[in-house]
Amino acid sequence: MGIKPLSREEIKKMTVACRIAADTLTYLDKYIKVGLTTQEIDDLANDYMLSRGAISACIGYHGYPKYTCTSINQVVCHGLPDSSILREGDIINVDVTSLIDGFFGDTSKMYMIGEVSAEAKDLVETAMMARDKGIEAITPMGFTGDIGFEINKLVTRKGYSAVKEIGGHGVGRKFHEEPFVPSFGKKGKGDRLIPFHCITVEPMVNQGTDEIIEYNIHGSNIKYYNTADGLLSAQFEHTILVTDAGYEILTLQ
Ligand code: MF3
Ligand code: CO
Ligand code: CO
Repeated sequence: MGIKPLSREEIKKMTVACRIAADTLTYLDKYIKVGLTTQEIDDLANDYMLSRGAISACIGYHGYPKYTCTSINQVVCHGLPDSSILREGDIINVDVTSLIDGFFGDTSKMYMIGEVSAEAKDLVETAMMARDKGIEAITPMGFTGDIGFEINKLVTRKGYSAVKEIGGHGVGRKFHEEPFVPSFGKKGKGDRLIPFHCITVEPMVNQGTDEIIEYNIHGSNIKYYNTADGLLSAQFEHTILVTDAGYEILTLQ
């Protein structure tokens, strides 16, 4: 069964949720530096979302115990905020999902802590480009494979690998819904991109192998993942509204 397209009212609500999620990342910009803990990032993000009348969609989601995901260096995604201290040279993805008025806004980006290596910087830039190339492949009634194809093409040309098991998703009235939006694929294959549905594009780009190792989060069905080779991973995420004429990125900063 397909998902009902969003009404004009629902699109307005989605726009508000996405604006708050993007503004949360902007708010964090001035705080994220050497010496901060990922727990402090989590608290700052929660306070900010509350100040805007939204709540975090993460806490309690399948038992997930924190407000955000904070994934440092070799952590691919769903890193758990804790007492880890940001160090010079680290790269970290902060992933924020807000919930307001029944709608979800999902976005993430990388922060580079102090001076980072040229290798780390190149990986981060590639992850951002991969997301943006993926987004540019969106057309009304196009395919999820169109997005994945462009992401994987860019990532492999740069000598990196795209994570296959985890990817983007439908989002809107639910945090995660159909379709799965892969970071690899074939043009014209996969699921249709339906006008007035929202999806995320969120490629995870690994420096080395695309193999990942799954770890349990205590008391939760959500897993976190590391690269199997311990090399770096980077990710950027936007929520996008597919329209009848193209698309609109709802989580621009
Ligand atoms: N925000 C993540 C995504 O992009 C999902 C996090 S689920 C959580 O889909 F429970 F770990 F928060
Ligand atoms: Co997402
Ligand atoms: Co996210």
